[in-house]
Amino acid sequence: MSKCFAFGAIIFLLPFLIFCICCVLVASEQISGQNSLSVKSGRSPLQTLQENDQLEQSAVHATLQGRRGLLEETCHSHTHKRRVLGPEDLRHLIVDDKHKLLYCYVPKVACTNWKRVMMVLTGEGRYREPLAIPANEAHVAGNLRSLSEYTTAEINKRLRTYLKFVFVREPFERLVSAYRNKFTRSYNTAFHKRYGTKIIRRHRADPQAEALKKGNDVSFEEFVYYLVDPQTQKEEPFNEHWERVHSLCHPCLIHYDVVGKYETLAQDSRYILKLAGAEGEVKFPATSKSTRTTGDLAAKFFDNISPFYQKKLFNLYRMDFLLFNYSVPAYLKLR
Ligand SMILES: *[C@@H]1O[C@H](CO)[C@@H](O)[C@H](O)[C@H]1NC(C)=O
Repeated sequence: MSKCFAFGAIIFLLPFLIFCICCVLVASEQISGQNSLSVKSGRSPLQTLQENDQLEQSAVHATLQGRRGLLEETCHSHTHKRRVLGPEDLRHLIVDDKHKLLYCYVPKVACTNWKRVMMVLTGEGRYREPLAIPANEAHVAGNLRSLSEYTTAEINKRLRTYLKFVFVREPFERLVSAYRNKFTRSYNTAFHKRYGTKIIRRHRADPQAEALKKGNDVSFEEFVYYLVDPQTQKEEPFNEHWERVHSLCHPCLIHYDVVGKYETLAQDSRYILKLAGAEGEVKFPATSKSTRTTGDLAAKFFDNISPFYQKKLFNLYRMDFLLFNYSVPAYLKLR
């Protein structure tokens, strides 16, 4: 009776045992085939961050925690209507399914380098060194996947379980940087034609035919007139280079786990790559500081702008100042 039972049990369990052995083999092969730290430890970067919230008391971690708290509070006290995200809102979120990362890119905030790093992370060995990737290639649509390309269920799963991060910058330094890059460099003819000609037509008192045709000598003052003109945003959304982070990345609807800052770029980038277990795979490129737009430079550009327009412009970018804890620049004459 007991023998018969034991034999029956083995027969009954045999397929199950074989199945289990196969599973272990497959699993071990997958693990040994990958070499990223997060896979080895079995934790996603989001889980690592959450563990750090409990344990780690490093200065970087505390700073990032403070930023996240302040963002949440500011969103809470400034947004009244809630709205639902649509796929269009997710165009700026870049997906790394291997390391479980979602990066919202903001132009003029080291986004070329972060896109290069994302290409190394998602490239399955095609790229090793971020700076070896030409800048224009980093911006080719299709080299990286955007969250808006996924189905609703896939989007929601990623929003829930991936580490979501964004990099921000002092709003007027970013704006002056965009102006300098797009309107004062002779090679940016596409921007001159597309935006410069329109700005000169509308906001220059007595334009020359040549300027109207080329659009290549827009002053910062004229650019400001264009930005604060209500007609501008009625016609089309701002170009992403001067659109507010609030509108590009929806920080009150998407709860970013890490808010990196341009001002602490190297440190914040290192922290994110560490959470992702990718320190061994890629280093965030060190950037040269020589041509950077700084607060002092921004102040010079605002010298020509009347207090009336300074105030209008500040109101336009106000949410980016508040959400990311940037103080009102001392050079502004708002009162
Ligand atoms: C906000 O900025 C101020 C001044 O730069 C700083 O002292 C403070 O710690 C920041 N707060 C948070 C929560 O990051």
